[in-house]
Amino acid sequence: MDFLKLAHVRYSVRAYRPDSVPEAILQQILDAARMAPTAANRQAFRLIVVHTAGREQELKRIYCRDWFVQPPLIIGICAIAADAWKRSTDGKNYGDVDATIAMDHLIMAAADLGLGTCWIAAFDPKAAREILHIPEGIEPVAFTPLGFPADKPGLKKRQPIENLVLYESWPHP
Ligand SMILES: Cc1cc2nc3c(=O)[nH]c(=O)nc-3n(C[C@H](O)[C@H](O)[C@H](O)COP(=O)(O)O)c2cc1C
Repeated sequence: MDFLKLAHVRYSVRAYRPDSVPEAILQQILDAARMAPTAANRQAFRLIVVHTAGREQELKRIYCRDWFVQPPLIIGICAIAADAWKRSTDGKNYGDVDATIAMDHLIMAAADLGLGTCWIAAFDPKAAREILHIPEGIEPVAFTPLGFPADKPGLKKRQPIENLVLYESWPHP
């Protein structure tokens, strides 16, 4: 699909069919994340692919919504701060940004291939660490369910472009 159309068509899917995701499609989606740009090409992230079958109750400890565990797969993305590029002037670590861009590539690729996703930030990081054995120093940044949608998109609520875009500088006081 044309990217500009895809940007309008993607939506947060909060109901999923149980149908499995073909392995070739999953690999295409993961490859889109692999191709994401990262600061200084450090690729300071890891994707965790989790099969939900038989683990629904345990996985709901990460994010307690029935639809989170409805599809066959959940994908988590973690930032590796120690590997990430840091800006020399102020030390800002770009690991979270790398992880976010990779996840967005994955989410847009999924939408392009007819699959549903939903960004999840309101998860329990402690439960995620325990259940997925994520060590200290590795930051779980976001999760998404991944499967075929069982709902329909609603109306997109967005601010008008003039509220979101400034030209030349922040407005003077
Ligand atoms: C960083 C981020 C975190 C989000 N976390 C959650 C979440 O924890 N739970 C949820 O249901 N939706 C979450 N969302 C989805 C947003 O609510 C959704 O993207 C927004 O309302 C716009 O709707 P749309 O995605 O359908 O266009 C998150 C989105 C982003 C980008």
